[in-house]
Amino acid sequence: MYQLCPSILSADFNRLGEQLQILEGSGVEWLHIDVMDGVFVPSISFGMPVIRSIRKESGMFFDVHLMICEPERYIREFVSCGADSVTVHQEAFGSPEELTECVRLIRSLGAKAGISIKPATPVKAIVPYLRDVDMILIMTVEPGFGGQKYMEKCTGKIRELRSVLEKEHLDTGIQVDGGIQDGTLETAVKAGANLIVSGSYVFRGNLEENAKRIMEDIRRFSQE
Ligand code: DX5
Ligand code: ZN
Repeated sequence: MYQLCPSILSADFNRLGEQLQILEGSGVEWLHIDVMDGVFVPSISFGMPVIRSIRKESGMFFDVHLMICEPERYIREFVSCGADSVTVHQEAFGSPEELTECVRLIRSLGAKAGISIKPATPVKAIVPYLRDVDMILIMTVEPGFGGQKYMEKCTGKIRELRSVLEKEHLDTGIQVDGGIQDGTLETAVKAGANLIVSGSYVFRGNLEENAKRIMEDIRRFSQE
């Protein structure tokens, strides 16, 4: 299963509802929602009230990426606001037990669970959790801001994780996030990513045309 996951961090918040309708009307099924606390990452984005509000109007799958400290404190609330999937950062936890407990909590609430790793964190840091999650998010920029440049050195991590999943016969998703543009989209899909987050590449210019074109490109690259 391949999905384009547009990141609303690059949306025009004055026209958010309208832009989400355009995405949904273009056939986009997933929506990537970046929550930042100004501590885990330098910037602050938005939180529960925005998610609750767009949930009322949108049938898309809400993929919530938590770039926050102590994510376990907020899991219940994000799920009750309408998150279909919650992704936490491996680096936000003090011990493997706490991370395991958190992803199990997410699933126990009926949501899908994900773990994300920053560019400097190796794939082996998340291998022990593969059976407890639905997807692994490989960051290809330092988390915190949209519109940054894809870090080529992360492509090897996508490939490495794809080969671990194949060896273990797991269908865990591989999500890629950061710097997806012309060229890097092809690189990430061909390396093995199937859930493609994109902010500026989707929202800059004509939203509907971009979304349709990028979904078609993902489909093509996944078959080449
Ligand atoms: C960065 C966020 C990304 C961001 C991607 O910390 O996690 O989801 O919105 O934006 P682009 O696609 O513009 O790099
Ligand atoms: Zn993100």
